Amino acid sequence: MDGASWHSPLHVAMRHRVWWAEDLLHGASEAWQDALAGLEGSCVAFVDAGVAGAWPEVAERLHACVKTGGQDRVRLAAVELMLGGEACKLGVEQAERVARACFDHGVSRRGAVIAVGGGAVLDAAGFGAAMAHRGVPLVRVPTTTLAQDDSAMGVKCGVNAFGQKNALGAFAAPHVVLCCRRLLGSLAQEHWIGGFSEAVKIALLRDPELLERIECHAPAIVARDMDAAWPVIQRSAWLHREHILHGGDPFELGAGRPLDHGHWAAHRLEALSGWKLFHGQAVAVGVSLDACLACEMGLLDGSVRDRVLRMFRAMGLPTFHPLLEPVDRLLEGLEQFRQHLGGALAVPLLRRVGECLDVATIPPAALAAAVRQLRQGS
Ligand SMILES: NC(=O)c1ccc[n+]([C@@H]2O[C@H](COP(=O)([O-])OP(=O)(O)OC[C@H]3O[C@@H](n4cnc5c(N)ncnc54)[C@H](O)[C@@H]3O)[C@@H](O)[C@H]2O)c1
Ligand SMILES: [Zn+2]
Repeated sequence: MDGASWHSPLHVAMRHRVWWAEDLLHGASEAWQDALAGLEGSCVAFVDAGVAGAWPEVAERLHACVKTGGQDRVRLAAVELMLGGEACKLGVEQAERVARACFDHGVSRRGAVIAVGGGAVLDAAGFGAAMAHRGVPLVRVPTTTLAQDDSAMGVKCGVNAFGQKNALGAFAAPHVVLCCRRLLGSLAQEHWIGGFSEAVKIALLRDPELLERIECHAPAIVARDMDAAWPVIQRSAWLHREHILHGGDPFELGAGRPLDHGHWAAHRLEALSGWKLFHGQAVAVGVSLDACLACEMGLLDGSVRDRVLRMFRAMGLPTFHPLLEPVDRLLEGLEQFRQHLGGALAVPLLRRVGECLDVATIPPAALAAAVRQLRQGS
């Protein structure tokens, strides 16, 4: 056999299921039944402490939902709380706790981890589920606008480590995603509005009509009018999901990552702020910066940049952060971004609404000018 080589494709078929419910904790039995179909034995649930604080009945309701949805096959062995926000992504501690709970409660690869919370809890609990037994199914219940309109649709999980965002993690598709409209009602305003930065991002990349919709309805979205906000959340989720299903590279093996538009600076700012700056707000700054940068580099018309900045400001989202300066320190984020992807640098910058281009070099002078512009406008 010396010198032989065996090359074959290896396909793994997966399903990507998302349910949208008015009130997941009180009803939506069809969604729960479908979510738990094919599972058996024990499950454990991890609930964002922010959610549990606002909805004290959550543990009791989860038990009832799993009982109805899982019939006699599935048993919810425990409901545990997890501190919400970036705190649960500080290193592997919380992810490890989830993995350990799977062993403590006999959760097998036919059971599930049910994660209820914002993007951070979904990321940390998801990483724990991905590690336990090399992959316990994950039922994601996203409870923030950002988690519903972006992160829960994805096939990634991870935690921050070594001073870097999402330094440790895995690609692992969720077993199912269950989105609940009612749970969004208890979000603090900054977390409610933060999620719309990802909707603006994907609209800029993919959907001029969505951009117009957000623009027209910005005051209603700020005022939490669900008739205005809910279609935006769903459309954004749909577009993120479309990219994963049909973009040809769900596990990001290639160089281009258009959905990371605005994210190289966002992740750097989050790290520089000691994880105090929220992801949604950081993305608003990052997208604003990339719009200015694209103009400075002659790629984008100034009218699109002005539109982006106006939209974020109308929604009360930031377009500048003092940690953008000094620019040299910010630039280190670019190298981290490159290393995270591997290969040559590929920063997705806008050319026009609906079209972006991967750029291999960012001239520091253009970056400095872009930052200056944002500072002066803030
Ligand atoms: N895996 C991915 O593909 C992906 C994609 C985008 C973002 N993310 C990650 O998502 C995280 C950001 O998530 P986020 O914006 O959802 O915020 P978050 O998870 O940081 O939560 C924000 C706050 O809201 C609270 N909260 C959550 N739901 C609530 C509710 N219904 N009522 C009251 N309080 C509630 C939390 O306790 C927390 O204090 C970042 O870590 C980001 O890196 C991951
Ligand atoms: Zn993001």
